[in-house]
Amino acid sequence: MKIIATDRDGKEHILEGRDGWTVMEILRDAGLPITAECGGACACATCHVYVDEEWAAKLPDKSDTETDMLDMALAVEANSRLSCQIICSDALDGIRVTVAPE
Ligand code: FES
Repeated sequence: MKIIATDRDGKEHILEGRDGWTVMEILRDAGLPITAECGGACACATCHVYVDEEWAAKLPDKSDTETDMLDMALAVEANSRLSCQIICSDALDGIRVTVAPE
């Protein structure tokens, strides 16, 4: 599956997602500026991304932990998600995300 990721400079990257991996891992491995301080444990919010509206609706609901972490993040929008909580699958082929500001 493909992930179309926009970095903080507005540059688009087309990345190959791996089934069962998180979007955070794919972005980080591709060198995008995702700190992911907690390593994907949903405990830092440094993997914050905006998910394109069209795709945001297709994602499973946020867990309470993800909601709590986003409450503490900056520049949160209605389509904010923690990319370590989005699991790659064919259903998300073509998903568009934008790395949130630091
Ligand atoms: S990597 Fe820490 S919350 Fe996603």
